[in-house]
Amino acid sequence: MVRKIIIDTDPGQDDAVAILLALASPEEIEVLGVTAVAGNVPLHLTQRNARMVCELAGRSDMKVFAGCDRPMVRPLVTAEHVHGQTGLDGPVLPEPTMPLQDKHAVDFIIETLRAEEAGAVTLCVLGPLTNIAMAFQMAPDVVEKVQEIVLMGGAYFEVGNITPAAEFNIYVDPQAAAVVFASGVPIVVMPLDVTHKVLVTKARANAFRDLGNTCGPVVAEMTDFFERFDMEKYGSDGGPLHDPCVTAYLLKPELFTGRQINVEIEVASELTLGMTVADWWRVSDRAPNATFMGDVDADGFFDLLNERLARLP
Ligand code: RIB
Ligand code: CA
Repeated sequence: MVRKIIIDTDPGQDDAVAILLALASPEEIEVLGVTAVAGNVPLHLTQRNARMVCELAGRSDMKVFAGCDRPMVRPLVTAEHVHGQTGLDGPVLPEPTMPLQDKHAVDFIIETLRAEEAGAVTLCVLGPLTNIAMAFQMAPDVVEKVQEIVLMGGAYFEVGNITPAAEFNIYVDPQAAAVVFASGVPIVVMPLDVTHKVLVTKARANAFRDLGNTCGPVVAEMTDFFERFDMEKYGSDGGPLHDPCVTAYLLKPELFTGRQINVEIEVASELTLGMTVADWWRVSDRAPNATFMGDVDADGFFDLLNERLARLP
């Protein structure tokens, strides 16, 4: 059964790999559209980058939409220090020639969900949750059309990567995250607790380089650039491939283990704004609202990634 998805994204080198993995797997995944949001870099760059990645995958037919250019309440915080000025630094890629759709991404999400059966569409969210929260607020009737939301965001044992308490995607738009986590939609969370376990070691980067196609070496150039921030900060043996965990879950959920727990979002405290308060030990009486992942088979993840990326041009 092919799963229908919308990819909401702020590319970002790791977003790019997540998108490539989805587009390399048409037997399992039908991408209805790619919606860009402001996050790692401003919207005019995330929509450009999303189109460049689709063209890299040979999918210039893909519908790419621009969404919200800033969070619901907070001022936009970007991450050029991690992703470079363009958000896709590393490889030299041609400017996109495929069109950006005129329709606003939030309208695309609403209209697509309205046209589908209940529970028919999975939302794969790779950046701040602004577009999703706006769609749910503008059209509450579409919430029931969502099969599940699989998102990269948050942290528990790993704590924050943009502040001591918060992970970037949630921190940028905590109000949007709070709307989504309160929506009642089944949510699968890929937090830093998992993504920091899928590090692009030298050997893994070389495996990308040796795939024998165009995409492999380009992915290696992306991760070579993107990893320097995390390696410097954590002294890790490579950069974490955050967002591809979302796509990998759709293809091989058994790679991941986690718990059904309650997750609330801090939206008020300046000190801990954007923290995912994950009740991992179930010490509160708050009802579970998410499957919060805690572990991953990293070698299995990279085996899947290599096998699928090799299918691309
Ligand atoms: O904290 C990591 C997340 O923030 C990833 O989605 C990365 O692309 C950035 O958006
Ligand atoms: Ca991202």
